[in-house]
Amino acid sequence: MKINDFKNAAAMQFFPTLVWRQELPPARAEAANNRLLAAIDKQLTPRPAQTAGVGWQTAQDLHLQPAFADLAKVIVEAGEAALKSIEAEHNGLTITGCWANVNPPEARHRAHTHPNNFLSGVYYVRAPQGGNHISFTDPRVQCAVMQPRYRKDNVLNASVINLEVADGVMILFPSWLQHDVRRNASNEERVTIAFNLMLNDYIETISPPIWTPSGT
Ligand SMILES: [Fe+2]
Repeated sequence: MKINDFKNAAAMQFFPTLVWRQELPPARAEAANNRLLAAIDKQLTPRPAQTAGVGWQTAQDLHLQPAFADLAKVIVEAGEAALKSIEAEHNGLTITGCWANVNPPEARHRAHTHPNNFLSGVYYVRAPQGGNHISFTDPRVQCAVMQPRYRKDNVLNASVINLEVADGVMILFPSWLQHDVRRNASNEERVTIAFNLMLNDYIETISPPIWTPSGT
């Protein structure tokens, strides 16, 4: 028997970690982002004092404010599309928090997750070159126990994915997925709007047991 005797060799990918990306066309993004930026500036005027290299965050209820209503609608639709892509049955999604981050040059955000939500995401209002990335860490921590030397990095062997983004891009990911934002290496502010989404009927419909008791 030789290896060439085998047919249909294939690497199968199980238990994928899905990160969804969508992007407004540049012409649409520019107009929308200018409006969002003005609304964010209003939130942060006057800007509270802050340490150099550390960013500002707005209140967490932007989704309830008229200036962000269009974005809130798109966020829910993007979340529903993500649920559809994994065949999830649900009775809608609710934004449980939505806030803007304004990060000056050198600002970064340490690794974290967004507990108690199903999906989280970020929309990029201003993603200047050098500040236009978000990094995701491999949730399979045991993979770090043994690491061959790889000739070339790719999505199959990476332990961290440093994803490039741009103005008008929206990224959605599972809320449990650890992520961080590296230093803003540009000379401009990075402005993002982050959000969390939760399944509407988690307690009522999803949490109860789905098995039939044997004694009935
Ligand atoms: Fe985050």
